[in-house]
Amino acid sequence: MNLLELTGVEKSFGAVQVLHGVDLTVDAGEVLGLVGDNGAGKSTLMKSITGVYSTDNGHVRFDGIDVTHLDPGERREMGIEMIYQDLALASQQDVANNIFLGREPTKRMFGLIPSFVDKKKIDRQAQEMLDQLGVHVPSVHIPVGMLSGGQQQTIAIARALTFKPKLVIMDEPTAALAVREVESVLKLIDQMRAEGIATILISHRLNDVFEACGRIVVLRRGNVIADLKRDKTDMAEVVSYIVGAHG
Ligand SMILES: Nc1ncnc2c1ncn2[C@@H]1O[C@H](COP(=O)(O)OP(=O)(O)OP(=O)(O)O)[C@@H](O)[C@H]1O
Ligand SMILES: [Mg+2]
Repeated sequence: MNLLELTGVEKSFGAVQVLHGVDLTVDAGEVLGLVGDNGAGKSTLMKSITGVYSTDNGHVRFDGIDVTHLDPGERREMGIEMIYQDLALASQQDVANNIFLGREPTKRMFGLIPSFVDKKKIDRQAQEMLDQLGVHVPSVHIPVGMLSGGQQQTIAIARALTFKPKLVIMDEPTAALAVREVESVLKLIDQMRAEGIATILISHRLNDVFEACGRIVVLRRGNVIADLKRDKTDMAEVVSYIVGAHG
C-alpha cells in the first residue's frame, strides 16, 4: 500500500485549470523529486495534499484513509507536513521558540492553572532536537532572522519533525543556499528517509534532485508527464520532459 495516493486531482483558479487530473503515489520512506517549469502546478499540487487547497475533482488518500475532505489541521494530525518556500518562521523570535512555535509547553502554576510558557523546557528540547539532527547553530537563543538561509531551512525542518510526520513536503529548500548548506539539507533528508519518513522534494536544481531522490516525477502544465527511476534516467532526459520535448 502506498503512503500517499493521488488520483485524478483537478484544480482550477477561476477559469484557469492548473491541475488536469494528476495521479501520483509516494511510498513510506521514499524520497520523491517533483520537478517542472515555473507555473507547472507543483506548489498547487502540494497544497492539495496538505489541504490548503481543496480539490475540484479527484482523491487524496494518505496512510490508507481518504483525506480529500479533511482540513489542513486534520491532515497534519495524520502526519503530513509541508515546509513552504518562504519558510514561515518568526524571524524576530529565537531558534528554540521557532521550533515550538504555536504549541509551547506551559508550566502549571501550583500544578493547576496552565499559565506561562516554560522557556527553559523549550530551550532544552530545542537543543536536544538539533543535536539529534546534527544541526549546528551558534545558539538556540539567537533570533532566527540572524541565521543564514541554510540554517533557517534546517530550523524549519527541525520544526516540521517535531510533529512526528510520515510525509514531509519541501518546496525549493535549497534554492537560495550555499553549497555546504545544500549538503546539510540533503543530509537531513537522508536521515529522515533512514527513519522511514517520506519526502517530496520540489526543486529546480536537478543536481540536488538526483542526489536525494530515488524517483523523479515531472509535472508539465498540470499533468504528470514522466515518472522516472533515478537509476534509469539522467539529467538530459529529465530536462527534455521539463521543457516539453516529448510533446
Ligand atoms: N491562488 C492562486 N490563484 C490564482 N492562480 C494561481 C494561484 N496559485 C497558483 N496559481 C496559478 O497556477 C499556476 C501554477 O502555479 P504553481 O505555483 O502551482 O506553479 P509551480 O509549479 O509551483 O511554479 P514555480 O516553480 O514557479 O514555483 C500558475 O499559472 C499560477 O499563476
Ligand atoms: Mg512553486
